Amino acid sequence: DLKDNTIIVVFGASGDLAKKKTLPALFGLYRQSRLPRDCKIVGYARTKMDREEFQKRATAYINNADNNPDIANSIEAFKKSLTYVHGGYEDSESFESLNKHLEEIESHYQSKECNRIFYLALPPSVFIPVAKNAKLYCHVTKGGVNRIIIEKPFGKDLQSARELLGAVKQYWTEDETFRIDHYLGKEMVKNLLVLRFANIAMGAAWDKNSISNVQITFKEPFGTEGRGGYFDEFGIIRDVLQNHLLQVLSILTMERPVSFSAEDIRDEKVKVLRSIPPVERGETLLGQYVSANGKPGYLDDETVPPDSVCPTFAATTLWINNPRWEGVPFILKAGKALNEAKVEVRIQFKDVTQGIFKDIARNELVIRIQPSEAVYLKLNTKTPGLYTRAIPTEMDLTYKRRFTEAIIPEAYEALILDALKGDHSNFVRHDELDVAWKIFTPILHWIDGLEGPRPHPLPYPYGSRGPKEMDAYIKRHGYKRAEDSYIWPMTSVA
Ligand code: BG6
Repeated sequence: DLKDNTIIVVFGASGDLAKKKTLPALFGLYRQSRLPRDCKIVGYARTKMDREEFQKRATAYINNADNNPDIANSIEAFKKSLTYVHGGYEDSESFESLNKHLEEIESHYQSKECNRIFYLALPPSVFIPVAKNAKLYCHVTKGGVNRIIIEKPFGKDLQSARELLGAVKQYWTEDETFRIDHYLGKEMVKNLLVLRFANIAMGAAWDKNSISNVQITFKEPFGTEGRGGYFDEFGIIRDVLQNHLLQVLSILTMERPVSFSAEDIRDEKVKVLRSIPPVERGETLLGQYVSANGKPGYLDDETVPPDSVCPTFAATTLWINNPRWEGVPFILKAGKALNEAKVEVRIQFKDVTQGIFKDIARNELVIRIQPSEAVYLKLNTKTPGLYTRAIPTEMDLTYKRRFTEAIIPEAYEALILDALKGDHSNFVRHDELDVAWKIFTPILHWIDGLEGPRPHPLPYPYGSRGPKEMDAYIKRHGYKRAEDSYIWPMTSVA
């Protein structure tokens, strides 16, 4: 655990990720007194600006809509810990001058042992030179620790990911490296371990004998507006499925780890991922949003090539070849420009044995990751009164109602804190990433046109539920929609 004498260097400090996520998360930790004592934050980017300008930009996304004086004071105090250095990413002189700046800060620290955390909020094109230069010119050697935090995209397929990770490995050990998948910092994703392994009732039903099918769904109500240039090169599978949703899947399906230590957890995640064969074309549905209700289509984005066939929606089914999960479809689906913002896991159980009930709804366990965290179990109960008919109802744990005082941290706050503590449990291990790419590389090559003509995505209107073929797709994979359509009563609260 790093208690003091720590500098956090944010590379790419003028970019979107740093402004919207990294720096506000650092502020959140600062405000909760979670940063090491006298921790300094150094922004680094190509853009020329003075310290004051950086301080202004770095705090622009901190939410203080109500002008709370307490938060305003914290922002002013936080600004004092921020300094800025501009320079290139490829040349040694820039890194030498960064190092001088770091040494100057450290000369004011009491003890000689200093820690440096390097956060790379950077596009992949400069990833390797920065990892290299940070190591060669800015790594502290007099005691203390050095850590590097890196973030996707980790390559575009298995081979490029291996090259990229291999290049970083030349300079940074696995112990020093923290690969972020910010979904691992989300409260409900962390809760999966507890829900599964701290409840005997859950554990007992957690397999192919009880479960019919599982859907892991990511929905966003906005398009790629402004990010089209980045997005078009990657597409929704690399942006969301191959990392965020696959991470959720691995925690949902892994065997019980021997302990909660980082290696025990990640050993189990890798093991289950290795049981998943590459996804198949025939089981993949691709979509791209088109203009509707005054909202622009994907191709209307000026940063997108006019004939792009890049998918902004994808659904695919994964199968796990192990005794617990054989034959259970895991449907992963994600889309931009849909009708709502929602990320959830929906586990649908099998039908009860036929004979005494007719047309009875299936049990479903829904884990709502966001917005508004919740876990609810749809279950049948006797219609109250002089009836014997069963009706679907629910057991509901909605966080807002049950944990009224709880403050749920931002994913990035939780993860940066873990990195400061040196805890790797919620970071992606090298071999985990390798196997994640193995599962998706064949389909990505097909979509990229490396194996013949590129597939054309199905159009869906901006603001809709996705391609209309979707309902038939999930039905084909075993999902049964209840006859009288059930609506979760907390929908409006959430
Ligand atoms: C990012 C993707 O990794 O995750 C974005 O690149 C996406 O396209 C984002 O919008 C979603 O994160 P969150 O935390 O808002 O669900």
